[in-house]
Amino acid sequence: MTDHGVADTVDDERPQGEAARPHRHADRPLTGGRIDTWRHPLTVRLTHWLNVFAMTILVMSGINILMAHPHLYWGIRSTFADPWMSFPMAPDWLMVPMRRDLGAARGWHFLFAWIFVLNGLVYLAFITISGRLQRMMEPTRADLADIPHSIVEHARLKFPKGEEARRYNVLQKLTYLLVLLVLLPMMLATGLAMSPMMNAALPELLWILGGRQSARTLHFLAASGLVGFVFVHVALVVVAGFTNNMRSMITGWFVIEPEKEDAE
Ligand code: HEM
Repeated sequence: MTDHGVADTVDDERPQGEAARPHRHADRPLTGGRIDTWRHPLTVRLTHWLNVFAMTILVMSGINILMAHPHLYWGIRSTFADPWMSFPMAPDWLMVPMRRDLGAARGWHFLFAWIFVLNGLVYLAFITISGRLQRMMEPTRADLADIPHSIVEHARLKFPKGEEARRYNVLQKLTYLLVLLVLLPMMLATGLAMSPMMNAALPELLWILGGRQSARTLHFLAASGLVGFVFVHVALVVVAGFTNNMRSMITGWFVIEPEKEDAE
C-alpha cells in the first residue's frame, strides 16, 4: 500500500519482504518539484475507454431509434396527440448506422448495451473489491463541508495542486457517484423495462416506471443527463490540464504540480 491514498490498488500489492525495493508504482520525482504519481490502474483505463466507445454507439443508435417516432409521452401508450416533446429530424452523421434504419439501429443498440453492461459490471466489481470506490469516491465529512469552497474554486477554474491533487475533489466524487449509482442504473432499468422479454418475465418493472411511454421518456432523460455529464466532464478535463489528464487515463501516470503560495 502507498501512503497517499490514491495510488494503492489491488494490482499494486507487493509480496511480503520486498519493501526495500522501490515499488513500480511509487512516486517519480520530476524537475521543478513536480511529481509523477500513479493514478489509474489498467482495469480502470480499459473499462473507461471501452465505455466511451460503447456509449458513443449507444447514443448514436439511440438517436436513430428515436427518429423512427421522434416524440415522447408520459403514461402507458402514445396517442400521437399530446407528446410532451417532439424532435426535428437528426442529420445522418449523428446516427448509427448513418441513415434512418430502425432494424439495424436496434441491432447496434442491443449489441452495445450488453457490452456496456458487462464492461460496467467489470469496472464496478473492480472498484468495489479493490477498495477504490471507497478510497477515491466516497466523500468524507471534510469533503462535504468543503462543497461551497469547491464550487467557488471550480467557478474560478482553479484546480488543486500538491497533495490535494492526489485526490478527487468533492464535486468530482459526487458527480462520479451520481453517474455510477443513479444515471447508469436508471439507463439500464428503463432500457430493460422496454424489452418484451423483460415485460413477460417481470411486468412489474414497467408498472413501477409508469408505463411504456414513461419508461421511454425516462430512458431519454437519463441518456440526456449522461450526455450532459460527458460535456461537463470533458470540459473540465480540458481546463484542468488536457494533456496531463489524458496521459493519466492512457498510461496511468499523472503529474502533480507543486503547491505555490497564492500570488493574489
Ligand atoms: C462517455 C461517458 C464517460 C463516462 C461515463 C466517464 C466516466 C468517468 C469516470 C467514472 C471516471 C473516474 C474513473 C475512476 O477513477 O475510477 C472518469 C475519469 C476520467 N475521464 Fe471519463 N467518462 C466518460 C467520457 C470521457 C471522455 C469522452 C473523456 C476524454 C475525452 C474522458 C476523460 C477522462 C479522464 C482524463 C479521466 C481522469 C480524471 C482524473 O484523473 O482526474 N472521459 N471518467
